[in-house]
Amino acid sequence: MVGFLGAVVAAAIVLISTSSIVLVESSITTFSKAFKPLYGESNIVSYEDEGSVEIAMDEATSSGFHSKEMYVQGYFETSLRLPESYTAGVVVTFYASNNQKYPYRHDEIDLEFLGRARGGTWSLQTNFYGGGHVERGREERYDLWFDPSEDSHRYAIRWGPDRITYYVDGVPIRHVAKAPAMRAEFPNKEMRLYGTIWNGSDWATGGGRYKMDMSYGPFVAKYSGFVMNGCPFNGTGPRDCVDRGLTLTREERLKMNGFRRRWMTYSYCYDIKRYPLSLPECVFNSRELRHLQKLHPKTFGYSKNSN
Ligand SMILES: *[C@@H]1O[C@H](CO)[C@@H](O)[C@H](O)[C@H]1NC(C)=O
Repeated sequence: MVGFLGAVVAAAIVLISTSSIVLVESSITTFSKAFKPLYGESNIVSYEDEGSVEIAMDEATSSGFHSKEMYVQGYFETSLRLPESYTAGVVVTFYASNNQKYPYRHDEIDLEFLGRARGGTWSLQTNFYGGGHVERGREERYDLWFDPSEDSHRYAIRWGPDRITYYVDGVPIRHVAKAPAMRAEFPNKEMRLYGTIWNGSDWATGGGRYKMDMSYGPFVAKYSGFVMNGCPFNGTGPRDCVDRGLTLTREERLKMNGFRRRWMTYSYCYDIKRYPLSLPECVFNSRELRHLQKLHPKTFGYSKNSN
């Protein structure tokens, strides 16, 4: 009997240690291990068994969470399902920032979802700031090839000393290589990860034309499948992390180009009214430009104005 129990216990230990090795390798972590509420705690529901969390915005409050650790570089992923129905004005985010620690020279890397008006779609916006230079936004926006409110999809930020890549379901959608002239405008200080839902009626949908309508609320976003594969900040300053995925393979670049030519709806790199001299990291791609010109001839009238 003792022998039998001992064998059962031993088997259980093997099972537990095997699964925890898998967890460590893939670095999937739970909400409660890696994050804590930031504001609107009454609208945050964590599901321990799934490792997931729902954050909501209703008449009373918006809500958000942030990582317990600060990180120096890394790969950060979440699976996210966005609120359904009419969501104009609603903004849902997954981003890295250090604005609480460095309010005047903060860094930020953003994935922001902008709610949909009637007959419209959710839009994904990416952006980043470095050294508090918020006067120079580097926004891009994209449509998605699926309805992000129907199911969970994976969204990720990979951040290295001189690269940032954004991913949707494993497809790189934007890759930034630091140009020397960017100096401090490339994120380089430790950051926390955040997830938030808030009222962006002033700008989010149709440039602010379509406002949030609380009669469609409460608006609920569900986050799960967190991968926090970053180097926790050790208190003394940035240090290098080993990350082999910083440059894109040829195959990844092809996938990215295919995505951008089809789904990108805005890029600051081609917005010559805003930046007559494009910012130093911008890489000109004629097929991207033609695609954007077809969508918005007024904003991206590059070829007509040049020469
Ligand atoms: C949402 O934001 C807009 C613009 O700032 C504001 O007019 C509106 O009252 C806000 N709605 C709610 C429910 O807070």
